[in-house]
Amino acid sequence: MNALPPNNCNILLEAKGLKKSFFFRNSMSTVLEAVDFSICHGEFVSIIGASGCGKSTFLELLAGITKPDSGRIYLEKADITGQTGLLGYMPQDDLLFPWLNTIQNILIPVKVKNGDIIAARKKIDELLPVFGLENHATHFPHQLSGGLKQRVALLRTYMCNASVILLDEPLASLDSLTRSQLQNWLKDIVKLLNLTIILVTHDIDEAIVLSDRIELMSGHPGRFTKSIDISSMGKMDIAAKHALKTDIQAMFRDNG
Ligand SMILES: Nc1ncnc2c1ncn2[C@@H]1O[C@H](COP(=O)(O)OP(=O)(O)OP(=O)(O)O)[C@@H](O)[C@H]1O
Ligand SMILES: [Mg+2]
Repeated sequence: MNALPPNNCNILLEAKGLKKSFFFRNSMSTVLEAVDFSICHGEFVSIIGASGCGKSTFLELLAGITKPDSGRIYLEKADITGQTGLLGYMPQDDLLFPWLNTIQNILIPVKVKNGDIIAARKKIDELLPVFGLENHATHFPHQLSGGLKQRVALLRTYMCNASVILLDEPLASLDSLTRSQLQNWLKDIVKLLNLTIILVTHDIDEAIVLSDRIELMSGHPGRFTKSIDISSMGKMDIAAKHALKTDIQAMFRDNG
């Protein structure tokens, strides 16, 4: 099963035939096999799958943190397999540096890339209100709530200036109220900044609210098993969202 966009759109990022194995406790285990995936400019794709099925490993391959055993990754048709720093990546356990304040944390990717700090500061000043952080510019992480910390981490990822942003369960640690507020905010900001996003989440409701497309992943080895084109479904009321969630849960049962 290929995880591909519904229409013949302008493909931005593409993975072809990815395979990844890990050597663990004296044996090789294939975590991902024959994984094909594409995402178009401006698309929001969520990946849902059981714990351990290989979602984070897939994002790590896209981000170049690990290299595939076989298969290639293309960004605008250029082979970027194994290259870091080209995609914005917010890992599952993203941590802000406790000794740096909000602005200093957000500036890290610019400093790592030896970028223009003055231009970046100007951009950050413009974006702090967009990210709801204008009153927290000089706060340190311990002075921020969980939701604010995630906003800082998201703005830091955005400052990578990448054409695709990979988010690995960015809202998982938040209470349900903060989480739903941030989901709404993320939906708005994705439109405002015209972002292309791959989001890993365990939350089906979150995926339905945010995505143009949902890709289901099964494990042993990890592969995409079902693609759900949300963008073609139009505006859904609560009953339609609930019915879709029930369908997705049934797909999981069927696909293991
Ligand atoms: N560096 C590694 N060495 C050995 N095994 C690994 C390594 N990284 C991941 N794995 C194994 O690969 C499998 C997939 O891990 P991965 O973190 O991609 O799962 P996941 O789908 O993101 O799970 P979760 O939803 O719990 O975050 C797991 O069995 C994990 O133990
Ligand atoms: Mg994970």
